[in-house]
Amino acid sequence: MDKFAITGGTALQGEIPVNGSKNSALPALAAALLTAEPVTLRRIPRVRDIRTMQRLLVDIGTKVDADGDTVTLRTPRIVCAEAPYELVKTMRASSLVLGPLVARCGRARVSLPGGCAIGARPINLHIFGLEKLGARINQAHGYIEAEAAEGLRGAMVQFDRITVTGTEDLMMAAVLAKGETVLRNAAREPEVSDLADLLTKMGAKIEGSGTSTIRIQGVEALHGAEHAIIPDRIEAGTFLIAGAITGGDVAITGCVPEHIGALVSKLQQAGADVTQPDAGTLRVRGAGRLRSVDVTTEEYPGFATDLQAQYMALMTQAEGIAIVTETIFENRFMHAPELARMGANIRIEGRQAMVAGPRELTGAGVIASDLRASASLVLAALAARGETVIDRVYHIDRGYDRIEEKLARAGAKIRRVE
Ligand code: EPU
Repeated sequence: MDKFAITGGTALQGEIPVNGSKNSALPALAAALLTAEPVTLRRIPRVRDIRTMQRLLVDIGTKVDADGDTVTLRTPRIVCAEAPYELVKTMRASSLVLGPLVARCGRARVSLPGGCAIGARPINLHIFGLEKLGARINQAHGYIEAEAAEGLRGAMVQFDRITVTGTEDLMMAAVLAKGETVLRNAAREPEVSDLADLLTKMGAKIEGSGTSTIRIQGVEALHGAEHAIIPDRIEAGTFLIAGAITGGDVAITGCVPEHIGALVSKLQQAGADVTQPDAGTLRVRGAGRLRSVDVTTEEYPGFATDLQAQYMALMTQAEGIAIVTETIFENRFMHAPELARMGANIRIEGRQAMVAGPRELTGAGVIASDLRASASLVLAALAARGETVIDRVYHIDRGYDRIEEKLARAGAKIRRVE
């Protein structure tokens, strides 16, 4: 298992480019199942979750051709409408094939995900929505079997709570349903809008993406299309915090600044100097002492849960007490005890973490528990005195494309130990 060895204390300098978004690329790849024609996707990030999704699609019957960060997918027919446990347990986003499979071939068999490091993560809302669209659902042996032999019918789906992949899954199911589907309390994340843009290019009729009510008029068939995935806002936010935590001067290029408005606002309140030199660049300069600023995670456009761990690492270096409240996942503080091993002063009470700073961090051996928790440990290590060794960095490889190379180019002393 690979590890990262990081010697902290260097202020990062220079430009760090951002990849295409992992969480946008995953549903886009699944959307290719909706047509027999080729779908070409550009800016697909080279991360492990994407390879997992491609493996799943190949088993389902897709021919996948990759050329750099461009991937072309052709699915002349569905060979096996199934997402097996072996893949779903390693990546919950595998359930994104449920909606497209039922829409394309009238049936799907998808393993239930089970719990994971950050929470229970059920898919009951995906299932609820599909039932509304007329699918018959049967659950047995840890699998969901969905069937709609006569095809899906448009319906009103009111989500009990906001779900990102649930909204995406239902949108993909509804594009080929008969009649109109209205998704209420839908997720407004940029990744949902990006998927709607791709589906529209494929011939779907979708209105209201980016708002909480999405209207979809079903069409007979979709066709091939070409689409470039939006930049990864979580990767951009992680690098922004890397600049701030090391007191450096870093330009994050190829990003969409509006997508991380909530983080930028918190960084500015904390005293970091964040500017936008051009439409696709954010520059962060560490400006002396940071102040503690509370944060509560929310659905978009609120502060992203996927940046909470990284922000907590930053708050260990800020003056005062920051209260970090996690509202999306019930168990997303696994990084806190690891940060504490490095010297952080963090007290957890239920869904809140009290971070008292500034504390001098010192290098230590720590373990990555999930994707974003690993990113927070990397950030803490960049600010720590001495060497930190992070074990199980396969978690970080799920969602960051060679993060160590990007950070090293900006001056970080980081190396991968195989
Ligand atoms: N939920 C339900 N029932 C459902 C679906 C969700 O109760 O059927 C609950 C979840 O348990 C959670 C909340 O609703 O408490 C929100 O979950 P959501 O469905 O929005 O999460 P997701 O779609 O599974 C995506 C991202 C996550 C990100 C969350 C929240 C992808 C592939 N994953 O997950 O990304 O944290 O939205 O923004 O888009 C990551 O990249 O590290 C990551 C975990």
